[in-house]
Amino acid sequence: MSKIAVLGASGNFGSALSEKLEWQGHDVVRISRSHGVDVMSPESVERALVGVDVAVDALHIDALGAQKSIEFFTRAARNVVQAAQASGVGRIVCLSIAGATNPEVNHRNGHYQGKAAQESFYQEADIPSTTVRSSQWFELIPVLVHRVTKGPLSIMPSMLMASAAMSDVVTFMADIVSEPRPARNEIVAVRGPQVDSAANFARRILAAKGSIDGVQPKTIREAPYLGRGIANGGLIPADAQVTTTTIDEWLGA
Ligand SMILES: NC(=O)c1ccc[n+]([C@@H]2O[C@H](COP(=O)([O-])OP(=O)(O)OC[C@H]3O[C@@H](n4cnc5c(N)ncnc54)[C@H](OP(=O)(O)O)[C@@H]3O)[C@@H](O)[C@H]2O)c1
Repeated sequence: MSKIAVLGASGNFGSALSEKLEWQGHDVVRISRSHGVDVMSPESVERALVGVDVAVDALHIDALGAQKSIEFFTRAARNVVQAAQASGVGRIVCLSIAGATNPEVNHRNGHYQGKAAQESFYQEADIPSTTVRSSQWFELIPVLVHRVTKGPLSIMPSMLMASAAMSDVVTFMADIVSEPRPARNEIVAVRGPQVDSAANFARRILAAKGSIDGVQPKTIREAPYLGRGIANGGLIPADAQVTTTTIDEWLGA
């Protein structure tokens, strides 16, 4: 069993991953501001990574602007790499978004540009790393719907997705973190079992639940305002592990 640091351990993904790793018997170091560590402070990160075998970056900030997003993810990655090198951490695993490095996908999305900067920082750093590129989770659909609903109308971005249950991605990630990995600076991808539009995933949730986290749009339309890359499947990784939980199974769970 290993000592594993989870950065972003109070978040949606990081908290579920921390629980899973602990359940598997690992010693988990939870890192977030709520746990007393700000990743913007190099000294705090270095103290938190002492004795750690693997560090997982599942950090996130709600910044849609490119500049803020790139600055956050790059600064955090720099601090993690420096602290990991100083503390003898063996490997860093970074949670990223499938398609985020593709300029046709990220040109209108500052968050994706931040993730692209994060990925390249880890991949170019002098420490073994694994980048896990995940498709969007089912849990993201209600967040999107909230953002794009005005009164009875939701105008979803035209977006082809291979959505996955976050719990399946957590399981995939926990395996990656626990196993010895063959390559330096490898990139792996994970996606859900069905490809559909974001609008259709939203319609499925609405039909099953009668509302989407309290929002009840009468009409769900779509428009290609996030660009053609996202509309035409740029978020779907070509060579990926396919998870098993379908949207209907997720809705029934
Ligand atoms: N949603 C999707 O469908 C999807 C798909 C693929 C990949 N991803 C990626 O998955 C990652 C995690 O997403 P999530 O939904 O779990 O995010 P989240 O719930 O917003 O969690 C973000 C975490 O980062 C921590 N954090 C933020 N600023 C920090 C700082 N300065 N110092 C220390 N910790 C800090 C937060 O803790 P504190 O606020 O307590 O500091 C929290 O634990 C994101 O990078 C996202 O891009 C998401």
